[in-house]
Amino acid sequence: SSHYAVFGHPVAHTLSPHIHAAFGRQTGIALRYEAIDATLATFFDALEAFAAAGGVGANITLPLKESAFALSATTTERARRAGAVNTLARIEGQWHGDNTDGAGLVRDLTERRGLDLRQRRTLLIGAGGAARGIAPSLLDAGIGELFIVNRTPERADALADTLGQPGRVHPRYLADLPSLGEFGLMINATSAGRDGRTPRLPMSLLGSRCAAVDLSYGEAAIPFLAWARASGAHEAIDGLGMLVEQAAESFALWHGVRPHTDAVYEELHARHA
Ligand code: ATR
Repeated sequence: SSHYAVFGHPVAHTLSPHIHAAFGRQTGIALRYEAIDATLATFFDALEAFAAAGGVGANITLPLKESAFALSATTTERARRAGAVNTLARIEGQWHGDNTDGAGLVRDLTERRGLDLRQRRTLLIGAGGAARGIAPSLLDAGIGELFIVNRTPERADALADTLGQPGRVHPRYLADLPSLGEFGLMINATSAGRDGRTPRLPMSLLGSRCAAVDLSYGEAAIPFLAWARASGAHEAIDGLGMLVEQAAESFALWHGVRPHTDAVYEELHARHA
């Protein structure tokens, strides 16, 4: 059977091996998928060793997505727009990089949650790797204006520049939030929840039909989603569906078959909600 892995640090609690094993059983594709702990310092060598041992595909998670982008021989357009790679495929002795995170998020929001994203005035909180990964896909999905705020304002400016749609994408200071009006979609792409924190946000930001999304899941998603629910969000959505959908996209790239995601999502949701 062919050999796959997820690389990251920390990676011990990753759900990816479980998800890919479930997809393999469902589609009748035999595969081995393991978790490999690698830091920025050890990633390159670990990936080479993996390839030498027959590894043909890898998912890449924190903090290695930019490194994976840098070492890819070729990249897809969506990976270049994100500046990050979450999926590697080994073809003729070289790594080819793609990024399925944004497509996974949009698929979760539109297909699983049934949200119509078109023309939604959107607030993106955070401007790190996670924000960069998903912003192009949101724009492609037809959201309305996109406002970006970040603790370090220069990074919000840089992300807005990269997105290259000055009439539609607006970096703003956190201090300006109270004057930005109401949003129909609010996405927390900060890592603050991993420390049990949430950025301080005014409740006035949530329109009456606002969907609030945290890109993380489990404990890390609790502070923001609790704030969103208490502030009257119409939907409060964690990143578990995105995780499953980005995995399905990666699986389709490697195996040429798109798995059904509902059963594994429901199972993980029951365990992690
Ligand atoms: P990731 O790949 O998870 O996006 P990252 O690139 O380190 O990781 O980005 C982390 C994001 O969370 C950044 O937007 C960061 O803000 P800064 O650019 O100012 O560092 C944001 N962040 C992390 N902790 C935060 C906190 N306690 N409050 C607000 N924002 C926070």
